[in-house]
Amino acid sequence: MVRGGRPLYGTAQVPAAKNSVLPLLAASLLCGGPVRLRGVPRLSDVEGCMALLRGVGCAAAWDGGDVVVAGRAACCRLPAAETARMRASVLFAAPLLGRLGRAETALPGGCNIGARPVDWHLGALERMGARVEQAGDRLILTAPAGLRGACIRLQGPSVGATETVLLAGCAAHGPTRLQGAAREPEIVDLARFLNACGGCVRGAGSAEIVIEGGRPLHGAAFAPMPDRICASTLACAAASARGWVTVAGCAPGLYAPVLDALEAAGCQVLRGTDSATVGCAGRLRGVGRLVTGGYPGLATDAAPLVAAALLTAAGQTVVEDRVFEARFGCAAGFAAMGARVRTGAAGRELWLPGDGRPLHGAAVAAGDLRGGAALVVAALAARGQSRIAGCGYIDRGYPALEAMLARLGARIRREMPPGPAD
Ligand code: EPZ
Repeated sequence: MVRGGRPLYGTAQVPAAKNSVLPLLAASLLCGGPVRLRGVPRLSDVEGCMALLRGVGCAAAWDGGDVVVAGRAACCRLPAAETARMRASVLFAAPLLGRLGRAETALPGGCNIGARPVDWHLGALERMGARVEQAGDRLILTAPAGLRGACIRLQGPSVGATETVLLAGCAAHGPTRLQGAAREPEIVDLARFLNACGGCVRGAGSAEIVIEGGRPLHGAAFAPMPDRICASTLACAAASARGWVTVAGCAPGLYAPVLDALEAAGCQVLRGTDSATVGCAGRLRGVGRLVTGGYPGLATDAAPLVAAALLTAAGQTVVEDRVFEARFGCAAGFAAMGARVRTGAAGRELWLPGDGRPLHGAAVAAGDLRGGAALVVAALAARGQSRIAGCGYIDRGYPALEAMLARLGARIRREMPPGPAD
């Protein structure tokens, strides 16, 4: 429940990045010793990945704010409920295959932001000597003689497929050269972790990555990078609700396109080394066309959030997502709040009204993680009360978003305790 119209003031601390923590949990399967991930946010997707680790025989437990993973995988079958529910489950296949010579999993399937195939992951593993069998939505990967290093060119800069190759490359015999890699900071974080455990990954953050395989990995204590999408959400919340918010613990360069867009819309943005302050008092203006892309471009995950912040701006904004086909499921919720938005280009574009009209509260439903957070961002600006259903989606990626915003002065509360994603 959000009662909009109250400006936000104060400092919000950015938690560790979900999209770094999930691959790091998968990578812990490769390690011979215990792994401690420091300061992990309590998210349903983190709990899901811990359940995957337990399902294959590892111990995975919270120790205060840290997650500790210990023990070696003994079983090659990932538990079906979690694999089907979470896209990130596909990242657990390569390390299991490398460790045990076999991995059994389920296809994660599509989701509410469009089809999300895993063909590039599987193609890369086949190049490294794996045999892939599919029976319905069951997937059986085998490599009895182990994985071998290979030269791989990805068809597109997929974050997950790049991570799969890093994980498989560390477990393989010989070197792997990956071309066309994604360059997202979470990939650099994964490489830093693998190297801290004794691996050898060079070039992460560029389009070509070289991995020296076959080195035994030991455990390590590691602090995952901050969540740049959570930082983007807080910055967009400040723009939407108005006020003056410092987003602390995340270098502004990690979400520069979001801050640049808010600045172009008329917000004041002060960039520090490890924080950014976003101030907004008057009316925002439209910023023309924003197009998402791989890092360092505007992150696809940030597209609905920036759109939410600019719903009441005067002057046109068009947000185009080139990564996923159905990023703007939140458009129906924006419209229910009175925004005359429309989608174009088969759902890949969201046209904002640019008429400067205020929003009003409404009953809306989250259909995906970032779209759900975008509805919250919009509701902060709306007159009256909004009720946002489907908060299970939001809980996948934000540790108690409502508490984070309430500490900044937002009138927001949860009606029901956190539960599994609806
Ligand atoms: C990661 O998903 C993130 N998830 C997503 O964040 C993020 O939106 C996405 O990267 C893009 O930045 C995690 O890190 C856990 P991709 P991922 O493979 O790796 C196509 C969030 O809200 N593709 O880079 O699954 C695919 O269909 C989530 O936190 C294939 O065609 O994304 C898409 O169009 C949502 N075949 C494009 O590549 C493949 O085998 C990019 O997807 C793989 C991908």
